[in-house]
Amino acid sequence: MDNLQNFHRSGYCGDLRIEDAGKTVSLCGWVQRQRDLGGLIFVDLRDRTGLVQLSFDDATDRAIFEKAASLRSEYVVAVTGLCREREAKTNKIPTGDIEIYVTELRLLAKSETPPFEIVENSKANDMLRLKYRYLDLRRPEMQRAIATRHKITMIARDYFDKQGFLEIETPMLTKSTPEGARDYLVPSRVHPGKFYALPQSPQQYKQLLMLSGFDRYFQIARCFRDEDLRADRQPEFTQIDLEMSFVNEDDIMGIQEGFLKRVFKEVLDVDVQTPFQRMPWQEAMDRFGSDKPDLRFGFELKDISDIVKDCGFGVFSGPVAAGGSVRLINVNGGGEAFPRKKIDKLADFAKTYHAKGLAWARLVDGKVTSSYAKFLTDEENAAILERAEAKDGDLVLIVGDEKNEVVWAALGALRCEVAKQMGLVDPKEFRFLWVTEFPMFEWSEEENRYMAMHHPFTAPMVEDEDKILTDKAHCRARAYDIVLNGTELGGGSIRISTPEMQEKAFQALGISDEDIQERFGHLVNAFKFGAPPHGGLAYGLDRLCMLMAGAPSIRDVIAFPKVQNASDLMMACPDVVDDKQLDDLSIACTRMEETPAEEQ
Ligand code: AMO
Repeated sequence: MDNLQNFHRSGYCGDLRIEDAGKTVSLCGWVQRQRDLGGLIFVDLRDRTGLVQLSFDDATDRAIFEKAASLRSEYVVAVTGLCREREAKTNKIPTGDIEIYVTELRLLAKSETPPFEIVENSKANDMLRLKYRYLDLRRPEMQRAIATRHKITMIARDYFDKQGFLEIETPMLTKSTPEGARDYLVPSRVHPGKFYALPQSPQQYKQLLMLSGFDRYFQIARCFRDEDLRADRQPEFTQIDLEMSFVNEDDIMGIQEGFLKRVFKEVLDVDVQTPFQRMPWQEAMDRFGSDKPDLRFGFELKDISDIVKDCGFGVFSGPVAAGGSVRLINVNGGGEAFPRKKIDKLADFAKTYHAKGLAWARLVDGKVTSSYAKFLTDEENAAILERAEAKDGDLVLIVGDEKNEVVWAALGALRCEVAKQMGLVDPKEFRFLWVTEFPMFEWSEEENRYMAMHHPFTAPMVEDEDKILTDKAHCRARAYDIVLNGTELGGGSIRISTPEMQEKAFQALGISDEDIQERFGHLVNAFKFGAPPHGGLAYGLDRLCMLMAGAPSIRDVIAFPKVQNASDLMMACPDVVDDKQLDDLSIACTRMEETPAEEQ
């Protein structure tokens, strides 16, 4: 094998252009492909910037020519040669006008045949790609995604630095304060039976930093949450985390809008209009069935409970009588797009959101066909279509349930699904929205108690402060989410900053005084020493990168992500550890998984 003694790379493959013709260049990289045409050999050389063609011919030194003939895909080479204009140009690659006529070739490493081809738009299955993630990352789209992520991170650092924020690291080994997702625990060796928790976010530390007078803090912070994974959730993920003192909502939102405007301009050359639209949570739910509405298309929800509450059709009147609602969306132009069979599929889709069914009316060629009309009076039918503002060519979809949450979730998801199927979702359009005035609490069926909708450090709205203990269902929080195209990009709030209000908030969550001291004593006590009014926000950096890279999952913008069951297929972890390690930690396992993580 050759080495790099006295070899100096002059630049990257993908940067060379016709203007470089005539220069001698030295390049390093991987063999994408070798074509041996007898007297001529072409090799596509790849590095992180792209491909360039190497050429060898009859006039090439024989030893070099033979070495070139032995090259295979993914071999690592270093070459020196003359950059010259190509005879057969191609516009398929940016370097297509030139080639490198090689005068020196060093073979630095061989490669076995990779388990999948290293190409753009690989058809290899996801599991294989993740098992060999280091090879997957060689693919151009992965290289681009990771480079985009870097750019976004660097802009964040620069922007917040220029706005006077200090980057401060907070601990990874911290205290378990379960409220929200499950914690990842780390056993302590020195304190047998005791555990650290990995942070779900630096929330409490950043608030304490405000108390310490740092005024403006930010951190590119790794967070850990043991929760079910989805396309936009990983067990470990990264936040751009911020906190500011002596501010209100407008100050915080203004700074964020400046950041997003800059990052979209510099990374995508997209001009984002500011200030962003704001919408109270209740309006978002009523109009879009979601607290993270995608505003790129219409199909807004309309409540028809008043029309159907006394009708003879129990599927509609029942939910209203039980305190729920019946609502619809009008899919403009959906009459043609969704024949019966496709509507059945939409009904199956709605059921995955716990809807019991899907009622519909199709208006095509001046005729109305419907799944429910025969159960209602002419007046009721007419009133529904009028409320829907339905006209010929439309499709009306109706969901009723005794739980408003089910109606919202099903119709909210349906409006996105039909828009997607009708090709109305423009990936190049970016619609930002602040959702505000979130409820302070939400009822948890599982826990049979109210939980903090954001987190227990969020301040109630000033006009709702009295409701915190007496009317939890109607107490609104000074919380806000930044939403982009139907994804929650980030969330934050103005915080509670007095010990009295913080204790009230814990009480409202049913946390006993003893527990407050035990779990949150550090924060409540700290508030006794002059806490400035403060608030902040955290972006999901992975989600921001996913949307900016146009990727379908945050997995595509994380170098080494976990799969659905939270395992890392490449490292094959989580994994068992030696008995000795467990002994040191005073840990005995009472239950063991049988199959190794990678085989699941
Ligand atoms: P929150 O829990 O809303 O707020 O998180 C902020 C943002 O982090 C991202 N996010 C995730 N991304 C990937 N995988 C996950 N499992 C995951 N969970 C959350 C989302 C979300 O909007 N401390 C507060 C912020 C604050 O109040 O300042 C917090 O963590 O994009």
